[in-house]
Amino acid sequence: MKKENKVKNSIDISRAWWKEGVLYQIYPQSFKDSDGDGFGDFKGVIEKLDYLESLGITMVWMNPFFESPMVDNGYDVSDYRAIQPRYGSMEDFQNMLDGMHKRGIKLVLDVVVNHSSNEHDWFRQSRSSRDNPYRDYYHWWPAEKGEPPFRHSLFDPEGAWTYDEQTNAYYLHYFAAAQPDLNWENSKVRYEVYDIMKFWAEKGVDGFRMDAFQYASKDTNFPEWPKGHEKEYDKWYGMNPPLHGYLNEMYNEVISKYDIFAVAEGAGTTLQDAHDIVDRDRNELQMAYHFDYVGSDQLKLTDFKAIFTKWDTSFAEEGWLSIFLSNHDNSRLVNRFGNSSPEYRAVSAQMLNTFILSMRGTPYTYFGDELGMANIDMPSIEEYVDVCALGDYKRAVKEGKDLGEFMKNLNFYSRENSRTPMQWNDSKNAGFTTTTPWKKVNPDYKDINVAKQDKDPNSVLNHFRKMVKLRNENKVLVYGKYELLDKNNEDIYAYTRVLDGEKMLVLLNFTDHNSCITSPQIKQLADIQINNYNSLAINNHTITLKPYQAVIVLLN
Ligand code: NOJ
Repeated sequence: MKKENKVKNSIDISRAWWKEGVLYQIYPQSFKDSDGDGFGDFKGVIEKLDYLESLGITMVWMNPFFESPMVDNGYDVSDYRAIQPRYGSMEDFQNMLDGMHKRGIKLVLDVVVNHSSNEHDWFRQSRSSRDNPYRDYYHWWPAEKGEPPFRHSLFDPEGAWTYDEQTNAYYLHYFAAAQPDLNWENSKVRYEVYDIMKFWAEKGVDGFRMDAFQYASKDTNFPEWPKGHEKEYDKWYGMNPPLHGYLNEMYNEVISKYDIFAVAEGAGTTLQDAHDIVDRDRNELQMAYHFDYVGSDQLKLTDFKAIFTKWDTSFAEEGWLSIFLSNHDNSRLVNRFGNSSPEYRAVSAQMLNTFILSMRGTPYTYFGDELGMANIDMPSIEEYVDVCALGDYKRAVKEGKDLGEFMKNLNFYSRENSRTPMQWNDSKNAGFTTTTPWKKVNPDYKDINVAKQDKDPNSVLNHFRKMVKLRNENKVLVYGKYELLDKNNEDIYAYTRVLDGEKMLVLLNFTDHNSCITSPQIKQLADIQINNYNSLAINNHTITLKPYQAVIVLLN
């Protein structure tokens, strides 16, 4: 049934709801279990809708919840129009969506179509015979041609081609062997995807996050690539030129027909790629999600600032980005960019949330980061279930790496860290479930949980709410021009945001010691809007910030 209110009339793309919104990411398996099976579900989200509303967020991106054998926790879809039973029914989904809409919250769906599950009917058919009508839905290499040219797999240490006896051929999978890559050069595949997207748009969803979309188009002649090419994965494996045409086709077939937007996971390898994907006159996608920040926890603050400034400058006039520091593929924000020690955990989490919510671009907050949830200690490989971690481990064994060192890194960087259940209260299993949760709850939940932070006006949670409110009420934080101050300061990230005569100054101390900044702007200080300490040390043109202090001030 067509939802009249979803059908697009016209959007002023220079100002759009998906630019003004604050997005909150829910990993459904870990958010709230309503039926006592140890897995989060839709009814659990419904129970927590008032909580979501209380945060002030206006968009939710939910990781995939479609029918799946769950080899990669739902990033291996076996039926794009069916719900994975552990999350509930289609009716539960509709109730959850309606509940969100009633509260002014939009829903963004994860569209996982670079690959499907090997249990999808398309793949079952495709592998059954060489002349099956679905054969060309995937990439096959007949074994009589010899071994296929080497392709690296992100998850499988054996490489991206797997031999399939049934038809004496290899199929391609950039991720796990259970995630065969779809053949986007086949227009039938693309139109299947557009139909799936329309199916969900008709149900009322408001946006799409295009998973791994950069890899969708491939040179199907599969030329030999130079040795070592896999080290530059995105360059070699992504952004094959026809991709732009396909995205434009998707825009015409789906996006242009509804009041929805699509965000790219990734942004190509150059700024030009990113513009080509999101500039409005090209009619491809609407927002990009660049990954330059990913390794930046290892960088000096000046380099970190340079990354964000480069992206902002390049998108100042045209295009739109998302701003994020964490998600389900990375370990926790506070460990990577802040300080997880008891003394500084709260202030550093507040500082990082202030950053995300005061930059230009749509802010993305990963569930639990509004509490300062942290990494979990998992020193032994036996505790890991993630296909990526297990693949990396096998690769490390194969390559004869130092496994002690490997495990130390995995423990810190593994994405298992961000998948532990949400910490609602200090009751057993943090109030996430009444039974054994699918993944161990972080033992720090007695101290770090929603119920406790709710009551504390100075908690990370209440700071987050304050920041979201400030952003929601001040377009200067959404559209305002960004200008970096004191770029060589190794401790403090300082910038202004300016729109129509309104000006805000943001000061963030990224260190565990006092540090100061001197700027003529400091003379113009008017009202303090945000401060995660109860004082601010100002002396003439100099402000001294306490460890991880975060301040936003209105300037005259
Ligand atoms: C990117 C997703 O964010 C990640 O979780 C997933 O494993 C891969 N794409 C494969 O779909």
